[in-house]
Amino acid sequence: MSSNVRPESMVRITTPELANAFIEEQIAEIKAQVGDKKVLLALSGGVDSSVVAALLIKAIGKQLVCVHVNHGLMRKGESEQVIDVFGKELDANLIYIDATDRFLDLLKDVAEPETKRKIIGGEFINVFAEEARKLEGVTFLAQGTIYPDILESKGVKAHHNVGGLPEDLEFELVEPVKLLFKDEVRVVGEALGLPHAMVYRQPFPGPGLGVRCLGAITRDRLHALREADAILREEFDICGLAEKVWQYFIAVPDFKSVGVRNDERYEGWPAIIRAVNTKDAMTATIEEIPYNVLHKITDRITNEVEGINRVLLDLTPKPIGTIEWE
Ligand code: XMP
Repeated sequence: MSSNVRPESMVRITTPELANAFIEEQIAEIKAQVGDKKVLLALSGGVDSSVVAALLIKAIGKQLVCVHVNHGLMRKGESEQVIDVFGKELDANLIYIDATDRFLDLLKDVAEPETKRKIIGGEFINVFAEEARKLEGVTFLAQGTIYPDILESKGVKAHHNVGGLPEDLEFELVEPVKLLFKDEVRVVGEALGLPHAMVYRQPFPGPGLGVRCLGAITRDRLHALREADAILREEFDICGLAEKVWQYFIAVPDFKSVGVRNDERYEGWPAIIRAVNTKDAMTATIEEIPYNVLHKITDRITNEVEGINRVLLDLTPKPIGTIEWE
């Protein structure tokens, strides 16, 4: 296996030319490592796994088997984008599993944040392992490990990198971007022709909307959260804030307040807007959102989303508030 230490001499990949050189070098290495064997990849649609998928498709084509598990906690349109880009445009060997019911059934009535995370992480492994067992002749597992994951070693996304597969599933790892920093992964992703929105996607936790649908997740509140979040993202794209803000999303708590809609009492959940800037996610500042944008977002969410009757803005920096509400 190649080294986990980035050589001092390694140039930071900042241009398409440098990215192309890296891609050529990795294609040769992947071919040498894999030969004519099959490689399995859990493709979440996040930046790292997407770039690894595109790189492997270029290197070994259909010898790569991508598995996309939709845990029902994706943002609006995300699984569809994975199917469009990888299944259709890149013609990858893609297995799509809609496991929404499995996850939501297990999460029913579970309110404790860490327990929710454990259920989501554990079930992700179960679903992925079941698919892996069905496949024959797979020798390798590709992962979107990047250099900060190695430096932090215990990395927050451990569960998403299918670290804990059962013992009967033993694979040799293929980790072509493990010495790259995030900005370099993005440059490589663009050079590979992935859509800009995919490569510059804001960070999204492995447990997905599960950490933003606070308390015990219900299908109706999760649906409201997904729709409200899609409106926020649309409006941030329109006003240009999407390019300026590091992470922005909606959280929906599990309590209702009284409101009026169509002259009738209308009890609904509040949608909480969180928009933060940060370099390393250890501390975060609040991005100012112009009032006209806030009014438009509030109008749209309260009128278009069933179940939401108020929109609130979280002005708390980190510390003391974490970025996610959990
Ligand atoms: P907090 O809430 O701790 O979050 O301030 C810091 C950053 O980490 C992201 N986050 C995760 N990312 N898997 C991930 O890949 C996870 O389980 C996870 N949980 C939190 C969070 O969105 C923020 O950017």
